[in-house]
Amino acid sequence: MDFNLVVLAGDGVGPECVNETIKVLDAVGKKYGHKFSYNHRLVGGAAIDGEGVAVSKETIELCKKADAVLLGAVGGPKWDDPLAKVRPEDGLLELRKSLGLFANLRPVHVHPVLEDSTNLKPEVIKGVDFIFVRELTGGLYFGQPKRRWKTETGRKAVDSMLYVEQEIERIVRVGFELAKRRKKKLISVDKANVLESSRLWRTVAVEVSKDYPDIELEHMLVDACSMRIIQNPKYLDVLVTENTFGDILTDEASMLAGSMGMLPSASIAGVPQTGVKIFGLYEPIHGSAPRHTGQNDINPIATILSAAMMLRYSLALEKEADVIDKAVEDALREGYRTYDIMSEGKKKLGTKEMGDVIAGKVGS
Ligand code: IPM
Ligand code: MG
Repeated sequence: MDFNLVVLAGDGVGPECVNETIKVLDAVGKKYGHKFSYNHRLVGGAAIDGEGVAVSKETIELCKKADAVLLGAVGGPKWDDPLAKVRPEDGLLELRKSLGLFANLRPVHVHPVLEDSTNLKPEVIKGVDFIFVRELTGGLYFGQPKRRWKTETGRKAVDSMLYVEQEIERIVRVGFELAKRRKKKLISVDKANVLESSRLWRTVAVEVSKDYPDIELEHMLVDACSMRIIQNPKYLDVLVTENTFGDILTDEASMLAGSMGMLPSASIAGVPQTGVKIFGLYEPIHGSAPRHTGQNDINPIATILSAAMMLRYSLALEKEADVIDKAVEDALREGYRTYDIMSEGKKKLGTKEMGDVIAGKVGS
């Protein structure tokens, strides 16, 4: 089959991670007779420099026509002025919003062979496998008013954690649907003891739960959740939460997997269902890591695993997705490591070499 992908490599280490991912996708294509065509476009700082905007209208239109979008990372010190009119991150936010990518799936899977190489005790993280469903197009990131202004008594700024019930309903539904296929338990994370938007969130979650009598719904406060992630992560299975809460908690959760360089994500425009293609944008949860740019040392696995999620959710290539997941698992089992997950006695590889190993395994 032929698939038309838009590739937004972005800034910093984004292009390096994307190059290795394309290598892996091409190996999949060769083995299974698919043709992936890549339409490379600018996003983030690269687009600000090249096109004067963080993402162009034309790029967004091309994304809408594509089967899926693969993204590297955006941002960097060059564009970090707090007073700048346009920021690289705006490109990502605009893509998420204008492509309707309201559900961000962030699986946290501890690879068995990395259980001993994280900052946590192996007995705490052994077998950890949960998934965050982060609301991605509302909440504190997008709510209005959102502005900064001067008053006689000083400068002020506001962001608003705003939700309409339909936004809560559809994201909670994604959580329930995933829970249905896993341990039949959904944790809804909020701050209902303080925030009005969280109280609406909780009310709607309870209402939606009536459609899922077989799924147990638990409410967890976000501060308690951040503690639970470290204290007993095996307790967690499917979690659904507000945009900013999800942003913060998933960086924290990535440490269970050993490194941010291990965690993929899928931003999708609907409820995932086996065999049904949903449009989506796929990117690692990590950023552009400016200090690692051009060093050939960054871990490309998060981006490669994001491509596996793309095959699974947007292209309905389940078997091919499994092959990528397994190639990563095998590479790790055979002792191949990038610097971020390196431990004694293992074989340290650069970005390109790790890409070669994984692509080689996919192809064999
Ligand atoms: C993420 C990132 C983005 C976010 C940034 C780059 C805008 O941190 O995908 O988690 O905050 O959503
Ligand atoms: Mg983040």
